[in-house]
Amino acid sequence: MIEASAPGKLYLAGEYAVVEAGYPAVIAAVDQHLFVRLKQAETGKIHSTQHPDLFVTWSRHDHHICPDAPHPYQLITSSMRVVEDYVRTLGVDTETLYQIEIRSDLDDEQSGTKYGLGSSGAVTVGVVKAVLAYYEQAVVPLLVYKLSALAQLRIGMTGSFGDLAASSFGGIVAYHSVDRTWLKDMMEHLTILELVTQDWQGLSVESLDLPDGLDLLVGWTGSAASTEQLVADMQSQLGEDEKEAVHRQFLASNRTCVERLIRACHENDRKIVRETIVTNRKQLQEFSAGMGIVIETPQLARLCQLALAQGAVAKSSGAGGGDCGICLVDSPKQKEKITEAWEEVGIIPLPLSIAYRE
Ligand code: PMV
Ligand code: MG
Repeated sequence: MIEASAPGKLYLAGEYAVVEAGYPAVIAAVDQHLFVRLKQAETGKIHSTQHPDLFVTWSRHDHHICPDAPHPYQLITSSMRVVEDYVRTLGVDTETLYQIEIRSDLDDEQSGTKYGLGSSGAVTVGVVKAVLAYYEQAVVPLLVYKLSALAQLRIGMTGSFGDLAASSFGGIVAYHSVDRTWLKDMMEHLTILELVTQDWQGLSVESLDLPDGLDLLVGWTGSAASTEQLVADMQSQLGEDEKEAVHRQFLASNRTCVERLIRACHENDRKIVRETIVTNRKQLQEFSAGMGIVIETPQLARLCQLALAQGAVAKSSGAGGGDCGICLVDSPKQKEKITEAWEEVGIIPLPLSIAYRE
């Protein structure tokens, strides 16, 4: 029996800008996980707590994984197939069948509520790790990230893959996104082995720590948001010159701010880290006003104001429009005060910490 897990994630800074090749973001893996169990079996099977009553069976045709009926697990099968394509190029046989069982703590199962902690990223990373382990391959973070990105790209998923970097590496990462256009082109010309062994244009992933004395506090607004929709709305505006200029300006100022944040983490500089979170929040507010999209909803604004009132810094996290806000606190006392203030207005503090690499 193979067991693998992948942590959820939250953006600390750099969201939206990171969708462009080579732009930085800082993303934290959080200690809420998705778990994958895999074992060899007579029949290929996929089961996930996402659809508790659905059991998808699969068989092999010419070594390849073929589900026996239409199913909603495209991301899971794409992840399985990418790893199998990879191991086959290493000369490994892919002939056995196996069962995959997925359990996620990233969503609230009872209510089906999504917190926006990156469950699709975590399921990709979790399945890639489990299938790599099944074929006795080393489960190395950069390889896991690359195979996960390919699995998502193959089924046409959009975005920066920053969630995949955080889930694959754990801890806090400074992430510069891969150039998707370059990667798509390479996918057509290279074998998967060549693809994963070469450097990816634009990509860098580096581990970071928050300065001593700063702690992460996460509040959930109570409403789920669609990242894909928000990013699509943003991108659909880019045809107009005026919006294009807003976007360009945002990218440039964002880069300066997020690179300053990364440096401040390296230099253990709490004051500058706080400043950059405040600046990044302002940049996102201006960007959303200029683009005509809602990132910081009234509930996210309230979440930030209540944190600021206690002397902490706070901002929306990720695409916004709901989901979570993050806050950096200086002391347990401050944390307690903010938590109480949030609860009074219906913001739910999530019991999350940063998930460091095992
Ligand atoms: O809402 P989240 O936590 O999934 O973050 C989305 C971050 C974006 O930069 C807006 C999109 C992306 O793919 O990077
Ligand atoms: Mg979100």
